[in-house]
Amino acid sequence: MSFQNLLIEHKERIQYIIVNRESKLNALNKATIAELHTAFYDAFQNHGVGGIILTGAGQKAFVAGADISEFSDISVDDGDNIARNGQTLVFDLIENGNKPVIAAINGFALGGGLELAMACHIRVAADTAKMGLPEVTLGLIPGYGGTQRLTQLIGKGKALEMIMTADMITAAEALQHGLVNHVVSQESLLPKAEEILNKILLRAPLAIASAITAVNAAAKDGVNGFEVEMEEFSKCFATKDLQEGISAFLQKRKAGFKGE
Ligand code: COA
Repeated sequence: MSFQNLLIEHKERIQYIIVNRESKLNALNKATIAELHTAFYDAFQNHGVGGIILTGAGQKAFVAGADISEFSDISVDDGDNIARNGQTLVFDLIENGNKPVIAAINGFALGGGLELAMACHIRVAADTAKMGLPEVTLGLIPGYGGTQRLTQLIGKGKALEMIMTADMITAAEALQHGLVNHVVSQESLLPKAEEILNKILLRAPLAIASAITAVNAAAKDGVNGFEVEMEEFSKCFATKDLQEGISAFLQKRKAGFKGE
């Protein structure tokens, strides 16, 4: 499948999804949001794909936010649709995906760009990256889950400070606050993301999917995460992968999981 605003690359079982609007700092216009939905939906369905690395084209930006040029003359109802469709079709889709998604933050991750990175399961940042939710400088607030996911990741006090001041923070500060998992040099960014993902790809895929579901339940209102964990734990007993994992351990060999 070919896209106007994304590049798709494969490296063995890793699929790269690269936001490719470098001249606009990879800002998310409507078309890019729609393409991200298709690309992630396909990657989650594709048995050849084990996990995904999401990054931005070039070295300057991961994604510098929603495309501000599309925000003139928007009604309250349109605003509701933009946030609701975007959250459901892209941000929640990524967060609830059945495969690990790593954001490789190669530069500015602002507004919808930071929200996109926060929807991913793991974040690795280049030491040159800058992150922030600057929407209040425009008279807006984050609309793709930023108020919720930033608060979950770094706590209410720091989240409110970042959102109300609109200040950008450095990759080092993001690491200190738990917003990103690792900070590395720009050259090491993709190798580091691949190293983490390749390690995850050695594990049992259905157990990884269950782990994502159970951990996500911790942040869902009205959902008993302990209940979800018990359901996901018990489901593992129906998999061939569990039998393989146990046999491999007892036979002192490496497991070869098939995701069955
Ligand atoms: N939406 C639309 N276009 C954007 C954009 C966005 N979120 N972010 C950057 N661009 C465009 C600029 O308009 C410019 O386009 P042009 O060359 O056609 O004029 C191009 O990308 C390069 O950006 P520029 O501002 O010239 O780069 P810079 O190095 O001076 O500044 C930023 C970089 C990231 C600080 C600045 O682009 C910025 O503040 N962007 C908006 C961030 C934001 O508010 N995001 C939240 C949106 S809700």
